[in-house]
Amino acid sequence: MARILITSAIPYINGIKHLGNLIGSQLPADLYARYQRGRGNEVMFLCATDEHGTPAELAAAKAGKPVAEYCADMYAVQADIANRFGLSFDHFGRSSSEQNKRLTQHFAGKLDDAGLIREVSEKQVYSNADGRFLPDRYIEGTCPNCGYDRARGDQCENCTKQLDPTDLIEPRSAISGSTDLEVRETKHLYLRQSAMKDQLDAWIDSKTDWPVLTTSIAKKWLHDGDGLQDRGITRDLDWGVPVKKGDQDWPGMEGKVFYVWFDAPIEYIACAKEWADASGRTDADWERWWRTDKGAEDVRYVQFMGKDNVPFHTLSFPATILGTNSHNEDTGSSERWKLVDYIKSFNYLNYDGGQFSTSQGRGVFMDQALEILPADYWRWWLLSHAPESSDSEFTWENFQQSVNKDLADVLGNFVSRITKFCRSKFGEAVPEGGRFGERENALIDELTRRVRAYEDHMETMEVRKSAQELRAIWVAGNEYLQAAAPWSTFKEDPEQAAAQVRLGLNLIRLYAVLSAPFIPDTSARMLSAMNTLDTGWPDDLAAALDALPAGHAFTVPDVLFAKVLDEQREDWQEKFAGTRN
Ligand code: MF3
Ligand code: ZN
Repeated sequence: MARILITSAIPYINGIKHLGNLIGSQLPADLYARYQRGRGNEVMFLCATDEHGTPAELAAAKAGKPVAEYCADMYAVQADIANRFGLSFDHFGRSSSEQNKRLTQHFAGKLDDAGLIREVSEKQVYSNADGRFLPDRYIEGTCPNCGYDRARGDQCENCTKQLDPTDLIEPRSAISGSTDLEVRETKHLYLRQSAMKDQLDAWIDSKTDWPVLTTSIAKKWLHDGDGLQDRGITRDLDWGVPVKKGDQDWPGMEGKVFYVWFDAPIEYIACAKEWADASGRTDADWERWWRTDKGAEDVRYVQFMGKDNVPFHTLSFPATILGTNSHNEDTGSSERWKLVDYIKSFNYLNYDGGQFSTSQGRGVFMDQALEILPADYWRWWLLSHAPESSDSEFTWENFQQSVNKDLADVLGNFVSRITKFCRSKFGEAVPEGGRFGERENALIDELTRRVRAYEDHMETMEVRKSAQELRAIWVAGNEYLQAAAPWSTFKEDPEQAAAQVRLGLNLIRLYAVLSAPFIPDTSARMLSAMNTLDTGWPDDLAAALDALPAGHAFTVPDVLFAKVLDEQREDWQEKFAGTRN
């Protein structure tokens, strides 16, 4: 049994995520987690909310709540929606947890002991109109790299370059729009990433199986221009992890907090401790996932994220881990932390001719999606159109077409036809008699080939290809049924019709097992209609299609998928054309 650690980029706390966010990390991560569990592997699937930094402070102010209360409320909202979307996290944590606070301070202390942190007296932008320092993303201006005029102080959305606020040309406050900004002197800690450049470079080079989208972004920031820059890891803010060196005060850093991008990825680890603490487990239970000196040596760690997150996951976070590990090696300490083994990154999903946008409320948000249709409709469309090799686009026409063709006509119709036909001719139990012939053997051969291909695509996280193969597996059953036509066979040879129907009912169980990672709720309904708890993976197709024996009782399920009507599509198109209020 393999052990697989899976993390999804942790969503910002401020606001409900849109479907573009969902398909960019959480949903494909869930697909992979469910698939690996289905194969019988031991999975630890972690996600959390990203709660620190200015965005949370400002959103709380806007909501008229203290920031801690705002975060607690929004955490509950996000956890509920994730649950309703079927996101099967082993734990959904919070970056503001006590566990993360301690671990973040621990790593900072180790990095300082390793000589990898330096103090920098820095000039920072202060907004007179807003009465505060303006860090990161609350300064807007022109990108010095590509000229985009709405670049933010932490990163340019257009060219993905990581920026410092003072890099921006013609900066203005994103809060008030004021250009009455002045530069004040303040002291900050910097992580000496540049000192780890060769180590990071060699590490990236060793990842020969990584997708080009991931490695090319990493290589770009390692080598372009002056190469990898040191990163400020502290901020002049109230809300965040207080700057400490382990549990000691850090002289000169009073009143400052760690930068949100320093503590957020550490939450991947702290989340496992939250999981253990919340479920009465021990430290050994979570450390066997994260500490290679405590049993995590054979764990495969896979991360899921959108492309804008790649620099932080290929460079900044690995610098934290590598720096800590090499220091421990030098001092003879055994403490070693797990580095990521594989990064799966995604392009963007666009919405109907433009971009999804949280700040502008444009597109369909997770809560709204569930108000109009159940999760599986969305899961199927999003996963089968995942923005892998390029950006992809959500349109209502395309959504209607996929739902109606793939889910209603192909899968839903198959289940309905075979169960209803059986009920009318043989009753609600798997019929007895007859034997499999050439046509059945040909189907088993085709399914064997296709299921092996499906496994390969799922293993390599080729999300679209997996969806295509799964659909082809559904289609094969439909074509078989069409060709075998038990409704005609029944007239001359009821025994043969019985064998055909028996195969058809067994296909429903098979489809439920194979489809569960994509459409878990429907899969559960199919299994329940087939009256079985047997979710065994079809290593041997012939055996899998014999799992429900003659005489096994079943029920005809309600319609699995309703078709999206033209009128509904037009309604929704209009309803979601503007911006969310
Ligand atoms: N909150 C970030 C975003 O949505 C992702 C943080 S991922 C982590 O872009 F590595 F920091 F955890
Ligand atoms: Zn740019």
